[in-house]
Parts: sequence; structure tokens; C-alpha cells
Amino acid sequence: MKTPSSTDAVHAGEARAEPYDAISTPIVQTSTYTFANTAELEQYATGTHPREDRGEYGRYGNPTCRAAERAMALLEGTEESAIFASGMAAVTTAILALTKAGQHVVSFNDGYRQTRQFITTVLARFGVEHTLVAAGDLGALAAAIRPATRLVLGESPTNPHLSCVDLAQLAAIAKAHRNVKTMIDATFASPVNCRPAAFGIDLVVQSATKYVAGHNDVLAGFVSGPSGLVSVVRELRGVLGGVCDPHAAWLVSRGMRTLKLRVDKQNATGLALARFLDGHPKVARVFYPGLPSHPDHAIATHQMAGFGGVVTFECHGGLAAARAVVDALRIPRIAPSFGGVEALVEPPVLMSYYELTPEERAQIGIEEGLVRYSAGIEDEGELLADLARALEKI
Ligand SMILES: Cc1ncc(COP(=O)(O)O)c(C=O)c1O
Repeated sequence: MKTPSSTDAVHAGEARAEPYDAISTPIVQTSTYTFANTAELEQYATGTHPREDRGEYGRYGNPTCRAAERAMALLEGTEESAIFASGMAAVTTAILALTKAGQHVVSFNDGYRQTRQFITTVLARFGVEHTLVAAGDLGALAAAIRPATRLVLGESPTNPHLSCVDLAQLAAIAKAHRNVKTMIDATFASPVNCRPAAFGIDLVVQSATKYVAGHNDVLAGFVSGPSGLVSVVRELRGVLGGVCDPHAAWLVSRGMRTLKLRVDKQNATGLALARFLDGHPKVARVFYPGLPSHPDHAIATHQMAGFGGVVTFECHGGLAAARAVVDALRIPRIAPSFGGVEALVEPPVLMSYYELTPEERAQIGIEEGLVRYSAGIEDEGELLADLARALEKI
């Protein structure tokens, strides 16, 4: 599939007529904007102001944020994009923009924890009903759609098993119904590895905190799609207030310039780590969509250009073995998140799923011996040697 080039990544969104001749889009750190006179103010009131990259006030637009949005639209291959203060601000604003009381959403039961929490608790409080179907079960998803359904949302790949959903099929299921939109959170792919819009998905979400910004130093999110839909989401952003700070948007734009380089490297390292772990005597199973043993390998090969830097594996010996490996690794830091320049590692049982009982974890397939490893841009050979040495501690 066609994915963005490094040239796109470096130049997307930049204004050629740069203020002060700066090559980098300046950080326009302002909360409000001035008007030359009341005639200019009137242009805003009537929607005829020529500058589309500023608002009348900071919550309605910012030139630095706008540059990041233009870049993301180009990378996702969509008409428009809106930037948010975090991935969760992007997810929740988009869902709220597309639903109202009495309507219904369908999603999978392996979605990002806070997204599921939002659907099952917050949306429910406002009268939006939901059905969560088994991970990746498109038959159950199709059967769950009712006349009141307005939104079908999923993630691909998912955490921590990196399951992939067939995006074209999911889009086709929704398109068979009038008024049902689709939204895919493709944070684990990044636009370098997958562009859901190319498969007919309406809205694409990125937690830019991960690969997109890529340096583990900023939180941000994007919602990308057709202009009509994105402007509805953007308008609600102005009301709910989950706007990105201009300095954060600038960090995101700077990260995006090396997105292709970083993700290409992380794809190569991820695959090398997965192949090394596959068949290792201390490892029971490896979850990596680039391995033929992954249940969704065929889907991933069809819709992804690479498989990312995150590899999840199950150690023989349960949690004690997983802890021994994580504690013995010298290069990756123990932390949540992924996609940044530095390798990170976590035992999912002690990180994202610690408040569940072992029985509840077993029900959703979170094995006690799981380790989630996210490669950064370090030397592949050094990461492999470090991992090989750590596995000997089991
Ligand atoms: C798949 C996915 N979606 C959304 C989010 C939320 O993004 P943020 O932390 O930027 O709010 C995360 C964060 O881990 C994620 O992994």
C-alpha cells in the first residue's frame, strides 16, 4: 500500500513564506489574537477572514497547531486533521461529536482501556448505548449494528497482542448501513505503516504521544478524515477545550519530520526481535503481526507497510519469569508507552492490567508471563544481545 515518503514527512504542513524567514514554523505562543480594526473583527464574525490558520481566540485555532494538522492530513492521506492535547482528547471528542443520547456505538472488547472506559461509563451516562464484541469478530460486529447505531470503532493493531482487524471489511460492514461511521485508532501502526482512510475508514485517530511525536516528551493526538466530519469534531474541540498547546504542537511537528526514518528503523528492529524470540526455549509465544505465526499475519501483510517496533512475548514460567526478564534488561527503561526513540518495556500484568484478578486477565487473554517490548531507534544488535542475556535470567 502507498504510505508517506520521508519527503512528505519532512515538508508536510510547512508554510513556504515563513515569518522572519525561519525554516521551522514558529511557535505562536498566544492565547488570543489582535484585530487591526472592527472591520477585521467583522470578517471573523461573518466567516470571511482570509487567515485560516488562526482563530479569533486560541481555543479556535493556532498557526503552529495548524501546521501540524496540515502535515498529519498529508501523512494520513485525508482531507483534514485536527490536533488535540492528547490521544484521549482526540478519541473522546470525536466520539462525542458523532453521537447523541438514544444512539448506539459498537466496538471491540480489546480496545485501549480508557477508550473502553469512556464508552462503557461516560457515554453510557449520557444515554449513548454500546455493544462490545469479541476482539476482531467482524461477524459479531455486523450483527451488533442496530438502527440506532451511528459509530463503529476499533483499533489496529491492538494492545498487547497486536491483533489486526480487516479495515476494508470493517468499512464495508458499516457502509451497508446508512449513517454508520467508522473510526480506527491506528496508533500502533502510525501513518507510515497503515493509512486506514485508504481502506474506506471515515475517521483515523492517532495518539501522537507514541510514534508520531516519537520522543516520549509530549502528549498529543489527531483525528483525521474528510473535511466535513473533521470540522464537526474541531467545532466540538472548541467547546470541550482539549486543544493542543502551540509548543506541544511544534514538538509534534518536529517529531513528524523524522517519522518515516524512525518507523522504518523500528519496523526492522521489531521484526528482528520477533524472529529472535520466535522459537527461543524460554519463550512460549510471540505476538508480532510480521510473523507468519501471528493469527492476523495475512491481514497485516495486506494493509500494513511494516509491523512496528512493539513485540509482545509470553515467557515460560509466568509472572516471575516475565519480571526476571524485565528487571535484567539494561537498555529498555521500564515504562508505559511505545513508539519513541528509546526502547521501553513493561510486564502488562503489572502495568495496564494490574487492577484485574488473574481470572479476569485470563478471560481477556492477558497471560501472566507477558512482556511488551517497544524498540526505539537504538542499535538492533545491541538490543538483541541485551534481550538474549536477559532471557538467560529465567
Ligand atoms: C492505542 C491507544 N490509543 C489511545 C491512547 C491514548 O493516548 P494519550 O496517552 O496520548 O492520551 C493510547 C495511549 O497509550 C493508546 O495506546
